[in-house]
Amino acid sequence: MPYKTARTDHPIHPMLASRWSPRAFSARLLYSDTIASMFEAARWAPSANNLQPWAFIYAERGTSDFEVLCECLKESNALWARNAALLGLALERPTKPDGSPNIHARYDLGQAVGHMTFQACALGLHIHQMAGFDPAHARMALDIPPDLLPMTAFAIGYLGDASSLPAIVQEKELAARSRNPASAFVHTGRWPNHVD
Ligand SMILES: Cc1cc2nc3c(=O)[nH]c(=O)nc-3n(C[C@H](O)[C@H](O)[C@H](O)COP(=O)(O)O)c2cc1C
Repeated sequence: MPYKTARTDHPIHPMLASRWSPRAFSARLLYSDTIASMFEAARWAPSANNLQPWAFIYAERGTSDFEVLCECLKESNALWARNAALLGLALERPTKPDGSPNIHARYDLGQAVGHMTFQACALGLHIHQMAGFDPAHARMALDIPPDLLPMTAFAIGYLGDASSLPAIVQEKELAARSRNPASAFVHTGRWPNHVD
């Protein structure tokens, strides 16, 4: 079992167990078909009233646009994310076409990124999402229109070698993964009946 595979209390799909958020990416770039498949998976995510309140902007390593995206990241993320094959931003559209607030937009965007994440896993890739970026800088640098909200950044690529990372990052890369037990957040019938 690869060292980062989740040690689950109950069986889950192997692809879900083996997904994790690496910082070490290999130098390998992505085929355009691979990129298209990931966004296609996002496209088919469910959303409230099928409003699909999401947008994505990405660039591949080796392009000047990639450097611009890299400059939007906090240095602690840019340190390793600059080696990913692709960097991108996930954008929320918080307003419905009739001008009223879409309170489910962020939920739907997260689900679209979830779809993209698992398509990436199915293609042998990894995604590392990041809240650590400057949305105001991204808006300006990437000409993002006012009706879209830069919500998260993401780095995508094939897994690299942890030994290629600076020491401080290497420690995080090799750390064990952990989660709260299901009993801490799953309730049955009536609050707060926990499940074991
Ligand atoms: C919305 C979101 C924001 C995150 N922001 C960062 C970040 O800025 N920097 C980072 O290194 N990891 C970030 N992560 C990754 C999480 O730290 C990671 O998913 C969590 O520790 C669980 O680890 P795993 O994905 O390997 O299971 C973020 C994840 C999500 C979903």
